[in-house]
Amino acid sequence: MSTHTIIGAQWGDEGKGKITDFRAKQADMVVRFQGGDNAGHTIKFAGKTHKLHLIPSGIFNDSAINVLASGMVINPWSLHKEITMLHDQGFDSANVVVSNRAHVILPFHQMFDEIRENARKQKVGTTGKGIGPAYADKTLRLGLRMETFIDFDAFDAFLDQRLDAINDFLKDAGKTPLTKEALLEKANPVQAMLRPMVSDTSRLVFDYWKQGKRILFEGAQGTMLCLDHGTYPYVTSSSPTAAAVPLGCGISPHVVETVEGIVKAYTTRVGGGSFPSEITGETARAIQTKGNEFGTTTGRARRVGWLDLVALEHAVRINGFTSLTLTLLDVLEDFETIKVCTAYRLDGKMIAHVPADIHAYERCEPVYETLKGFKGPISNVTDYHALPDAAKTYIQFIESHLGVPVGTVSVGPDRTQTFDIIEGVCGLDD
Ligand code: IMP
Repeated sequence: MSTHTIIGAQWGDEGKGKITDFRAKQADMVVRFQGGDNAGHTIKFAGKTHKLHLIPSGIFNDSAINVLASGMVINPWSLHKEITMLHDQGFDSANVVVSNRAHVILPFHQMFDEIRENARKQKVGTTGKGIGPAYADKTLRLGLRMETFIDFDAFDAFLDQRLDAINDFLKDAGKTPLTKEALLEKANPVQAMLRPMVSDTSRLVFDYWKQGKRILFEGAQGTMLCLDHGTYPYVTSSSPTAAAVPLGCGISPHVVETVEGIVKAYTTRVGGGSFPSEITGETARAIQTKGNEFGTTTGRARRVGWLDLVALEHAVRINGFTSLTLTLLDVLEDFETIKVCTAYRLDGKMIAHVPADIHAYERCEPVYETLKGFKGPISNVTDYHALPDAAKTYIQFIESHLGVPVGTVSVGPDRTQTFDIIEGVCGLDD
């Protein structure tokens, strides 16, 4: 096996960055294939916390090359900021490669995001990073690719073509129009930084794969935020699923081998949209505080709820997870009981699937099974056998319901607080 894919199984924020970092020591290449700086991947080691939004979470592993592939939408100024931040912390970004086919987020995309979000009655709760408008431009065949952005004259010509229409839209929305001169000036230093980093990453990933090198694909967001299979329209504008790996990298689907679904031991969601197992009150506040459930990108408090196995079954089917990784298990310690949503009640009938109709999904009520809680602390536990029996029962309950083994458990934010239960669960050879 030479590839391994990490995917969020819920509504994002499951701990994918932390697990990618944990696996990266086994990888020769780490690849982000969708999304942009709406992602916020937190990695903690040696007493320091690092927050990444664009650069793959393999960056802290010296030997891996880190690829921002063509399926991403990239804000060059955010990338510049992230590279500068890493540099200041003593991390080299010489091993970062950016796809020439990735689409570029420009300042007006963020303005469009805000204008459109304000115009919506039901807020999606976007991160405001311009992700949706950049993907929309791509689909409308109005977008700007990296190859064009880094070429001064080509970018100038792109602005000549598009800026008038953009400014008409901005003026109608009461915003200050943008000038070509200001955009060119703003672009200049980041174009210079990007030029040596931009290349055909489809060929690069393919070459690594052909040579049998080990490739880790790092998903952002989560399956329930998938544009196609998530809780539309309360979703992001890309597909954060395993199916997006080949398309977002420009490689064959055959390349996808093991797929690790990252599952938070409970559920969180930021932004709008239904969330059947959402809870409020004291228990919710306790989970929110202990789990530090505040957005890495926006700082917003995340909504919290019990584990939802109906939504997870949806993610298992779509992604073909070969194993699950249960994160933040320590957050559930010391509760007398733990609830798990195993079905929904929709208009008086029991269902065990996620309805396509968002209004039907809003009417779904959770049907819970109640399990015994477990006593902590478990944050120092480093192997399965040392977990309390009730925690093991919780893990087994999830496995038997979903038909996928839990291969890895995480009991704290630090790199050292993750352990594999199943040997070789990560497809990459040591
Ligand atoms: P957008 O991706 O900024 O357009 O936001 C669309 C929806 O996806 C909003 O509900 C966001 O809160 C959510 N979202 C986007 N990125 C992430 C993420 O990395 N983690 C969790 N939620 C996200």
